[in-house]
Amino acid sequence: MQNNKLKDLKNAFNGNFEVLAAWAEKFPWEDKQAYAQWLAQTYYFVKHTTVFLTLTAAKFGVRNGDAHKGTLKHLREETGHEKLALNDLRNLGYDVADMPELLETSVLYQTQYYWIECFGPISHAGYALMLEGVAALHGEKILKRIEAAHGKNTGSFLRVHVIADDDHFDDGLERLAFAPEADVQAVIGNLTQSAALYLNLLETIQTKHTSQSETATVTAIKGKKAA
Ligand SMILES: [Fe+2]
Repeated sequence: MQNNKLKDLKNAFNGNFEVLAAWAEKFPWEDKQAYAQWLAQTYYFVKHTTVFLTLTAAKFGVRNGDAHKGTLKHLREETGHEKLALNDLRNLGYDVADMPELLETSVLYQTQYYWIECFGPISHAGYALMLEGVAALHGEKILKRIEAAHGKNTGSFLRVHVIADDDHFDDGLERLAFAPEADVQAVIGNLTQSAALYLNLLETIQTKHTSQSETATVTAIKGKKAA
């Protein structure tokens, strides 16, 4: 039974990651406008991370003390991470105020409030695994491309999320496989949906917000003419 659940989790994790890895490779990280837009949208959804963790920690409660305390530890680690994206964006020469939140970003994080409320705190692990996994497993390659194209002071957000140790995820999946079947299915459901929504965001940036896109209108601060 546990083995079946672990197999389902690993299949969902690996299947979604193959698709995301292909996109991460294809994404125009060297394009200043596209990377700036990625940073701005990352800022908008990462702002909610500590709220999600506060909600899930409270919902685990004293009945699930280990998960409660583990989530509080995670909360301390994640605090302030949105500022890294903001600093990278500033160092790239852009102001987040000129780059509004996209619809694709709103749906990516707003659905988490539904998952946590309707399917319980453990379901949120699907979203966290998807985002942490893509950065940890593919971030190093992307970081090199970003630093080569835009300079070392523009990749701090990605740098703190690159983890060399792949076992981190296997351990996480093995722990999750001990949860009841309905919870495991909720994690898989959230992981699959979040991966699709994240892909949708990457596609939108790539088609509408690169320097070549007709719809891209944002000007870098450094490129603005003095009044
Ligand atoms: Fe983070």
